[in-house]
Amino acid sequence: MDRFINRVIHGDCIEVMRGMPDGAVDMIFADPPYGHGNHVDDLNARLNDHRGIEGKPIANDTAEEFRAVMDGMLHGAARVLNKDCCCCCCCCCGGGPSPTFAWVAARMDACGLDFFHSVIWDKVNPGLGWRYRRQHEMVMVAHRTGGKLLWGDDGVAIPNVIRLSPPRFRSHPNEKPVSLVTQFIEAHTLPGQIILDPFCGSGTTLVAAKMLGRRYIGIDIEKKYCDITEERLRNTTPPLPFVNEKQEQGCLL
Ligand SMILES: C[S@@+](CC[C@H](N)C(=O)[O-])C[C@H]1O[C@@H](n2cnc3c(N)ncnc32)[C@H](O)[C@@H]1O
Repeated sequence: MDRFINRVIHGDCIEVMRGMPDGAVDMIFADPPYGHGNHVDDLNARLNDHRGIEGKPIANDTAEEFRAVMDGMLHGAARVLNKDCCCCCCCCCGGGPSPTFAWVAARMDACGLDFFHSVIWDKVNPGLGWRYRRQHEMVMVAHRTGGKLLWGDDGVAIPNVIRLSPPRFRSHPNEKPVSLVTQFIEAHTLPGQIILDPFCGSGTTLVAAKMLGRRYIGIDIEKKYCDITEERLRNTTPPLPFVNEKQEQGCLL
């Protein structure tokens, strides 16, 4: 497992995860493509150009591609996650006759994960478009079937709506705020544990993990995003060594 730790790996997450031992990862924070072909349309492409971000679609962003890659990742997740204290979070949104979150919940259950909590990321302002303009994403929290969700602190009490603006300056069209991801990492892992982001993009999860003294593994199919992640990690300082007794003990619920 050592060859994966604190590394950014350029490749297909399904293939890379196949090389990982069973139960070796303590948390997966996955932010997959949306499956909406969001960045193909003119409006988003123009907006991204304006922000200085490539208007090009991200990999595997059509509905069919998303479902294939997500299904493969979920099967891998159910194997590589630590059985007793584990958590898997995926950002999904959207409606339609078969909304993404409903499909993901069903696939989580079919792949060996139990969908347990949904947390809403309220982005403060609605996205572009009309009718129901998208203002939220859902973070779906699951654990391995037969396992339990680890809570780093017994007394934790976090609202299941997290209100945060997206980062103003982005190096990826779907970049998440670091402080969104830190909340999940702090809630569900202990210092030193291993966090995997199979769709790491610009590396937000890895930056959050490093800041909090966790070990990390990032995978992205696009080399340019692996390079951006490595650059962000070079500019991220890990915390000073610190042992919190409560965190060390952990708490199973
Ligand atoms: C929604 S973005 C992640 C954004 C990231 N959370 C951030 O804050 O920058 C999804 C990423 O998944 C990557 N991707 C798509 N298919 C993949 C695959 N099979 N394996 C690994 N990465 C993949 C895309 O290149 C894209 O960067």
